[in-house]
Amino acid sequence: MSNKITKYLNQVYFGDIMELLKKLPDQSVDLVYSDPDYNVGIKYGSQSYTVSFNEYIDWYIELSKESLRVLKDSGNMFLINYPKQNSHLRVKYLDDACYDVLDYAWVYNSNIGHSPSRFTTAHRSILHCRKTKKNNFYKNNVALPYKNPNDKRIKQRLANGSRGRMPYDWFYFDLVKNVSKEKTFHACQIPQALSEMLIKSSTMPNDNVLIHFGGSGSEIEVCQRIDRNFIAAEIDRKYYKMIVDRLDSGKIKPEYRLEFRRATNFARQQARLLEKENEYITDNKTDS
Ligand SMILES: C[S@@+](CC[C@H](N)C(=O)[O-])C[C@H]1O[C@@H](n2cnc3c(N)ncnc32)[C@H](O)[C@@H]1O
Repeated sequence: MSNKITKYLNQVYFGDIMELLKKLPDQSVDLVYSDPDYNVGIKYGSQSYTVSFNEYIDWYIELSKESLRVLKDSGNMFLINYPKQNSHLRVKYLDDACYDVLDYAWVYNSNIGHSPSRFTTAHRSILHCRKTKKNNFYKNNVALPYKNPNDKRIKQRLANGSRGRMPYDWFYFDLVKNVSKEKTFHACQIPQALSEMLIKSSTMPNDNVLIHFGGSGSEIEVCQRIDRNFIAAEIDRKYYKMIVDRLDSGKIKPEYRLEFRRATNFARQQARLLEKENEYITDNKTDS
């Protein structure tokens, strides 16, 4: 393995992914995994990254261009986003730059985003970019049980060592619920069952996975658990701290749990209210 990449392995870079990408050598990672901010006005605490749509697509193209440079010819790139953002990226850049681009759907149930004038958005697009014809893809890592295991041909395939069928190009996974074991105070988490499937489909142990956006650390933790090397970035200090702590301790500590944060905020609000009440009582006593 190139020495130039070794120093970045299993490290989380605190800063902008574009800065980190510029430092990485050509053809050094086996998988690029990307779940960026979707430019739809989400606030991460008090921080928002929203810009005009055209500016966003220019940035998304730049991100993909640098990522294809660091991706090995045998590698794969997954980009998760809303369909419109991914369609623009695909048509304006990826279709020309890659050997092949597939558009998969992650489907989930949703209680929000209902509108009387259109169907409810309940899926995300996952672009799968194959840099060359010779991309590594490991069906046996992600195979699902055959639907008709008693069929003669299927029995033969099983007898020949097949572990099951290739999953379809749409995936149903529940959103990470507030009560879920993997939920943190991060605003937008990808379910680990989904990221694990994507990572396993395209890598083997000791392969290098570049995770553009660390977020809650959910994908990085998957890499650690299944013995893939990760290289990751996160620009926000509080998320960066959570990721490092999560990796060091092997768990999500209570202070990073959404429920804990909510309860603590509530307790703080109550304390502030009490303080104000006391000030009011003291002032009124002084006045009288
Ligand atoms: C959609 S979230 C990723 C969530 C992640 N998939 C998870 O499951 O936890 C995007 C993350 O990217 C971070 N971010 C935004 N712009 C960034 C940049 N230019 N470089 C690195 N991180 C960035 C945000 O702070 C946020 O945590």
